[in-house]
Amino acid sequence: MRQKIVAGNWKMNNTNSESKLLLKKLLSYKFPPDVRVIVSPPYTQLSLISNKLKNLKIEVASQNMHYASNGAFTGEISASMLKSSGVFTTILGHSERRLYFNETNKSLNEKVKKAVNENIEIIFCIGEELDDRKSGNHFEYVKLQLEKTVFLQPIESWKKIIIAYEPIWAIGTGETASPDQVQEMHSYIRNIISENYNESLAESTCIIYGGSVKPSNAKNIFSQPDVDGGLIGGASLKSEDFAAIVKATKCQSYTA
Ligand code: 13P
Repeated sequence: MRQKIVAGNWKMNNTNSESKLLLKKLLSYKFPPDVRVIVSPPYTQLSLISNKLKNLKIEVASQNMHYASNGAFTGEISASMLKSSGVFTTILGHSERRLYFNETNKSLNEKVKKAVNENIEIIFCIGEELDDRKSGNHFEYVKLQLEKTVFLQPIESWKKIIIAYEPIWAIGTGETASPDQVQEMHSYIRNIISENYNESLAESTCIIYGGSVKPSNAKNIFSQPDVDGGLIGGASLKSEDFAAIVKATKCQSYTA
């Protein structure tokens, strides 16, 4: 059975003290034990947050990682730097990285290879623009993003790959994809994983959804059969909203 995952992408938000406070509040919740809860703070807070989370249930991920081991890449962070900060999971390919920092399928493929070689787990983001959705090209768009990156990896690498479907038109816009639209795309992604590898891998790969997930819509999205949780932006900065979204992965209640 696939595990549910809820990851909070804090993006470029929060000072150290604001993040410490947010974490303190998150740690006061008793989350369902079988849900993976991950927070992804900015680089400067990774050590701070990973130290505070040592031996605790919440995990930490970075928002990016470079493909080189080291060298003259001003402003970049390597896999070994992440590991030495206690970080073993990274988001890669977020649409904001693709859009504002010129990340391409080619450079992302290098990053994916490096992360896998370094035993770093990847939350790999894909998702179409509004124009692609409107013209009905969204399946092809997402397929190409996968074919040029994670589908080039050998099957063993998929132990370390989580897919995050984040339609660009739904990120930070308040406009969420409908549960049916999310299910349709997740099921499509699972099918093409099966075609490229096999059914067992497709069935065991976690595919999470991101784009304006809120406490009010999380349950309907997470209850779709091919949705294994969410990658949460804005709502992950408010502890009570994030906790409610984690709770929405479960039907049974839990104590806060
Ligand atoms: P929002 O939840 O703010 O739409 O952001 C989603 C996202 O980009 C998570 O990576």
